[in-house]
Amino acid sequence: MRIGVLTAGGDCPGLNAVLRAIVRKGERHHGDMVLGFHDGYRGLIDNEATVLTIEQLRGTLPRGGTVLGTSRVNPYMLEDGVQRVLDTVDKNGLEGVIAIGGEGSLSCALELSKEGLPVVGVPKTIDNDIGATERTFGFDTAVAIATDAIDRLHTTAESHNRVMVVEVMGRHVGHIATWAGIAGGATITLIPEEPFDIVEVCGALTRRHERGRYASIVVVAEGAKPKPGTLDIPDDDFDEYGHIRLGGIANLVASAIEWRTGYETRVTILGHVQRGGTPTAFDRVLSTRFGIAAIDAVHAEAWGHMVALQSGSIVTVPLAEAVSTLKPVRADLWSVAQEFFA
Ligand code: F6P
Repeated sequence: MRIGVLTAGGDCPGLNAVLRAIVRKGERHHGDMVLGFHDGYRGLIDNEATVLTIEQLRGTLPRGGTVLGTSRVNPYMLEDGVQRVLDTVDKNGLEGVIAIGGEGSLSCALELSKEGLPVVGVPKTIDNDIGATERTFGFDTAVAIATDAIDRLHTTAESHNRVMVVEVMGRHVGHIATWAGIAGGATITLIPEEPFDIVEVCGALTRRHERGRYASIVVVAEGAKPKPGTLDIPDDDFDEYGHIRLGGIANLVASAIEWRTGYETRVTILGHVQRGGTPTAFDRVLSTRFGIAAIDAVHAEAWGHMVALQSGSIVTVPLAEAVSTLKPVRADLWSVAQEFFA
């Protein structure tokens, strides 16, 4: 078969491992030709691609980022975008396309499948927020990076008797914050699912410091929101998929803490460090399993479906089901995190 593949949306560790697995099984087992489109949907719109071979992808398993490049370009934002995608598929004689992306890119894949594009999705995002899969690759790596950062912040916080506010990614859900907060021994964690009251946060920090602990770590997911009327935050900015561009809530939280408690407070925004570098062993294995399952799903003509991890097994689920709801932090895990607050 002639198959197209693209990586869309924010990059994440493990993308190259997925590509490597698709090409490995496609070429060796099925005798496929895999065409890799550049920069996500932009490559499909502009018909810009390279043939991917086993030889070319050697050495890419531990490499972060994506050898194909990625972008947040959305064909639905261009007047003739969808037609150009379908023309590219026709011109190249593609019998199937594998779209590796997060919620926005997979929603786009779903719409394109309704227009007749034979597409299979692979869920990717460090945020781990895609419904219908227990895990997305990249998440484990991001948690490991954030936990390492928190471990390092503990020692400097203790030396200076400071409050350290650490901002991690997670625009709608707080999986990274919750996991890294538990693993790193956070004093308090703030996540989008649980709007916070800054007065309560400061009260908890004060009680802790009055008990004789002079250092605290507050982990904040970038999408954490104060309860209405408790802390002013600036208006949101949006990307091509209508997603909020975030980053910076930690600065507001830190100033409020310093002002209300008088404790010296510093901010660390981990940002894209969480998305860079080599994937963990777990993410390499999950990416490889997803890649193998995706090429098999193409051969099974499971169009409009996405590969997913459920109860330890790789399954295929309808894209419509996968993108219908975001997966929030489980209540039982959140209550474990809360047990250690302040
Ligand atoms: O990949 C998802 C994500 O990491 C979000 O948590 C974050 O808000 C966003 O990407 C940042 O994207 P960009 O690289 O476009 O700034």
